[in-house]
Amino acid sequence: MKLLIKSTLALALIMAVSCTNSKPEQKQNNKSNIEKTTPSPKEKGMEYALKTKAVLGKGLMNAIKANGTEGALSFCNENATDLTNSVASKMNFTIKRVSDKYRNPNNKANVNELAYIENAKNQLVHGDKITPQIQEIDNKIVGYYPITINKKCLQCHGNPTSEIQPKTMSKIKELYPDDLAIGYSADELRGVWVVTMPKQ
Ligand code: HEC
Repeated sequence: MKLLIKSTLALALIMAVSCTNSKPEQKQNNKSNIEKTTPSPKEKGMEYALKTKAVLGKGLMNAIKANGTEGALSFCNENATDLTNSVASKMNFTIKRVSDKYRNPNNKANVNELAYIENAKNQLVHGDKITPQIQEIDNKIVGYYPITINKKCLQCHGNPTSEIQPKTMSKIKELYPDDLAIGYSADELRGVWVVTMPKQ
């Protein structure tokens, strides 16, 4: 009888130990699962770009609704950069919108960005979808994500005689005397989201 109690106890003890042993293992498994599903830098950058686009797009559409196209120009002029940075400042990355045909000279694409733009335009010419790209620069990860034109953009970036109203056009000229960002058609490449992230 004593022996039975002893061996039952021993068994219970072994089970208890094995249970506690299995717990950290399970945790480790979970951890590696999380690691496996962690988005790649390309996906992360895309998420940041889409988040920023949503904030900016919402602000723009509200401004157009409230003040018309011409009034919304001032909104873009005063808020586009701050709104873009507002998303980034909450996280560990920076984001900017650049273009080869820029409206605001602060958004002028640099050499690397121009290379991406040229390649993206080539993809369009060949009927391919424009793909995002990742580059390592100065020990950081830089992601490039295309910005394309849709119908809503044409009132400010389309044909200056048939699509942009004269009132809007004169306001554009007043705010941006060296504007290059007109004459676009739907589905053309307008610019690039450039997301800079720390290397992991
Ligand atoms: C109400 C007019 C208006 C509309 C509509 C509009 N934009 Fe713009 N856009 C501007 C202004 C003004 C700027 C310059 C903002 C600044 O000073 O930073 C700008 C700047 C940009 C830039 C940054 C590069 C540059 O040229 O300075 C991109 C990219 C851009 N617009 C894309 C778009 C796209 C894509 C759409 C449609 C989804 C769109 N815009 C709709 C007025 C507009």
